[in-house]
Amino acid sequence: MAITTPSAVTTSVLKPRNSITVIDNRTGKSIDIQITDNSIPATAFSQLKAPYADGERPENDTPYGLRILDPSFINTAMIQSEITYIDGNKGFLMHRGYPIEQLAEKSSYLETAYLLIYGELPAKSQLDLWSWEIMHHTFVADDLQQMIRQMRYDSHPMSVFVSAFAAMSAFAPEANPALQGSDLYIMNKPLMNKQIVRILGKATTVAAMAYRIRINRPFTPPRSDLSYTENLLYMMDHMSEPNSYRPDPRLAKALDILFILHADHEMNCSTSTMVHVGSSLVDPYSCVAAASAALYGPLHGGANEAVIRMLSKIGSVENVPDFLERVKQKKELLFGFGHRVYRETDPRSKVIREVADMVFEVCGKEPLIEVAIALKDAALKDEYFTSRKLFPNVDYWSGLIYKAMGFPLDFFPVLFVVPRLAGYLAHWKQQLDSGKNKISRPRQVYIGKGRRDYIPVETREERPITGQNGLNAIPHYISKRRLTKI
Ligand code: CMC
Repeated sequence: MAITTPSAVTTSVLKPRNSITVIDNRTGKSIDIQITDNSIPATAFSQLKAPYADGERPENDTPYGLRILDPSFINTAMIQSEITYIDGNKGFLMHRGYPIEQLAEKSSYLETAYLLIYGELPAKSQLDLWSWEIMHHTFVADDLQQMIRQMRYDSHPMSVFVSAFAAMSAFAPEANPALQGSDLYIMNKPLMNKQIVRILGKATTVAAMAYRIRINRPFTPPRSDLSYTENLLYMMDHMSEPNSYRPDPRLAKALDILFILHADHEMNCSTSTMVHVGSSLVDPYSCVAAASAALYGPLHGGANEAVIRMLSKIGSVENVPDFLERVKQKKELLFGFGHRVYRETDPRSKVIREVADMVFEVCGKEPLIEVAIALKDAALKDEYFTSRKLFPNVDYWSGLIYKAMGFPLDFFPVLFVVPRLAGYLAHWKQQLDSGKNKISRPRQVYIGKGRRDYIPVETREERPITGQNGLNAIPHYISKRRLTKI
């Protein structure tokens, strides 16, 4: 069938303009939409309305104009941001203009956190004050400590982390817009800054506590004379040694670099959760709890843990081809590969590879590295992965480093979320400082049943209790037992 192009949009007759023209072929209506910063406002499409008279309109149509359907936000920008830029095709990442490789080599985590949150590298005195403030907000209230202590020894450390931050909101009523007024963080910037240092300060303490309940050891009080990552390692590992005990500085440095690499990554699943939840003006502790919960799934920050489980399952280099075959048959996922944005190797994974060698020098080589290298090499030569532009991401190597350093598997996402708090807070602040915050409220395209009338249960058609829908999916033994009791 021949497709005709309307003459109005034939490129040869158009003078270049910074706009697009959209023609609604249902009605012939044409609209011009301005392009700004390589984006167009989705609201422009609401001018295009279906041609039906009200009575004739199909149930699933809308009188409010055309919607943009973008499940999983494949091509929808949620915010305008000055914080982080990723060029996925080139494998390039920068924060506030500084390439990640330079920050990893020359900066420290706390300095990068300042850069992300406040937009510029701090002067020496600013950095000293910033670090001092964070390291003096590391204590966690006694009642909160007791609450954390009540968690089971086998709790996933991320559920402890998420719960602790959700509870922290209850320990800071002065920081709660629900109690103090919805414009609290719009009006009171010193209070906003105070919550930022408190959240960054307490994150490592809560992380260490989540680990200490696993090993059934008392909590170690934080030390303000250590660096951010040294203090985390100290609180995790200090036992009966004198208080002068210091973690190995090479490992603290390696962890600091890993923290820089994880500090922000623009609108990923958890940071967009922070922005989404923050748009309701709820307190920042609740926002952090929500964002951290989003991070801990295996497709996001839980992938580093999943990589090690995958490599352990593969076991040895000779099993790599079989495993890749199963991935290609879509029976397995190659964890640590692929990314929504990168169509090239994630630049963080290149830096991480060097950190891995630093750590292996101190802790010994992680035996699974051979499997990891063989798997990566085989995948990068395979058409299935190259044609889909699947390359190693940050999680591919980070898990191996954490394993070599002796962290338990389920602690890996904690080592991702603690540094990511800097990114969450940078986006939270940017949003509230912009003066343009509006509550996030996506639309949906309704494809369900049309209007129908309620039928009383006595007159409803009988249906068997089998299948996978709703309550029918309850395991049979439970429903059977319950039914017998009745
Ligand atoms: N293993 C096997 N196949 C994959 C993988 C993978 N890891 N990732 C993508 N694909 C395939 C996918 O099946 C699809 O194939 P087809 O075209 O035949 O349907 C194609 O590649 C396109 O993938 P997609 O699912 O459309 O990609 P996405 O952008 O929706 O997903 C992702 C991105 C990161 C969730 C995905 O690549 C994935 O599940 N990776 C493994 C988990 C992982 O490593 N996550 C960490 C991400 S980086 C750190 C972070 O941001 O948290």
